[in-house]
Formats: sequence, C-alpha cells, structure tokens
Amino acid sequence: MKFFVDTAEVDAIRELFETGLVDGVTTNPSLIAKSGRLIKDVIKEIADFVPGPISAEVAATDAPTMIKEGLHLSEIGSNIAIKVPLTFEGLKACRALSDRNLMVNVTLCFSANQALLAAKAGASFISPFIGRLEDIDEDGMGLIEDIRLIYDNYGFETEILAASIRNGAHVKNVALAGADVATVPPQILHDLVKHPLTDKGLDAFLKDWESTGQVILSKE
Ligand code: G3P
Repeated sequence: MKFFVDTAEVDAIRELFETGLVDGVTTNPSLIAKSGRLIKDVIKEIADFVPGPISAEVAATDAPTMIKEGLHLSEIGSNIAIKVPLTFEGLKACRALSDRNLMVNVTLCFSANQALLAAKAGASFISPFIGRLEDIDEDGMGLIEDIRLIYDNYGFETEILAASIRNGAHVKNVALAGADVATVPPQILHDLVKHPLTDKGLDAFLKDWESTGQVILSKE
C-alpha cells in the first residue's frame, strides 16, 4: 500500500519524506486554507521535492471552469493530480481531464455507486472518506471492501485512495480491505511506527549491549 501525506504543511511533508515512506501528498481547500498560503505556491513547493502524485483541488463547481482550473493547476508539474468533487459536473471534468492524460483524483466519495461512476469517468484515484462515514455511524471500511470488489470485478485501474483517516486502526483496516493508497495526516503517520514494547525492548538490548563493553566500530 502507498502512503500519501494528507496536509499542505510543507515542513511536515519534508520531515516525513526523508523517511523514504512518502509516495505522494493530498491537499484540499480546507488544508490549503489552513496553510495560509496561495495554492499554486504551496503545491509547487511540494511538487518540487515529492515526485509522487500531489493532489490539488479545483474550487469551481461547473465542469467548464473545473477543467480550466485543472489545466491551470496541472501546469505546476507532471506529478500534479487534479482533485474534483464527486458530482456530475466533477465527473464530466474528470472525463475531460483524464482524456488529456492528466491524473484526476475524484474526492468526497461516500458510496460504492459513486466510486463506480468515478472509475467509468476515467479517475486515476478515488477518495472515499472513511472517517466522515464513521462520524455518522456508517461503515467506512465496508465501503473500501465494496469498491475493491467492484473494481476487481471489472478490471478498473482507478486506485482506491482511502481518505479521512483518523487513526492507526484505519490505516491497518484499509490495508486489509485492499486500498491502493492511504492518505494520512502527518501525526498519524508518525504514530504508526510507535509501540511501547519496541521502546522497552530496545532499551533492554542497549543496556545488555553496554554490559558487554564491546563496540562494533573500533575508533579509527
Ligand atoms: O483528504 C481528505 C481529508 O483531508 C479529510 O479528512 O478528517 O477532514 O474527514 P477529515
């Protein structure tokens, strides 16, 4: 499974990118607003050091303007994925932009039927928001499983990009459900590596090693 970082905070992306575990970045209008920066400036800064897909979302709601905005955003770099909402206007824009061989990430997906339509519209990525479904007591994981089965039934190449990830259990469960990508907020990505028994075990190893008096690298 690929890991994208779900933020527009460049420093947080840079810190995680250095681990070699970051395959891309997703942003949305709320994350851009939170960054306090102009979308083209922040997306270009990210795209200049993260080679993977960088999602930048259009703001228009009509297909012709979405297409114009998407083409404008795609000028930033070849690794830009244009994000459009899962509406009929968004699907029309998705078809037009994917026909131009541009990456399109169809976002705000909350049902398997929506995901089926996005795949038929040529989406490169579909973004089901699992956290927001669970907020209303619906089955976010079941949605990932349903989309996976439908896409595999018909050989759709659209990648399932699990979004609205709120904790480590979400990451594990979307991986179990067969998502191609999880887009994860920076702190959750950092927390994935942590386990108290790892810390405890390492402390014990280091204490016992120190008691041997050995060094692996002799001082030159
Ligand atoms: O990529 C979508 C994500 O940013 C939404 O997350 O927690 O606002 O539902 P959340």
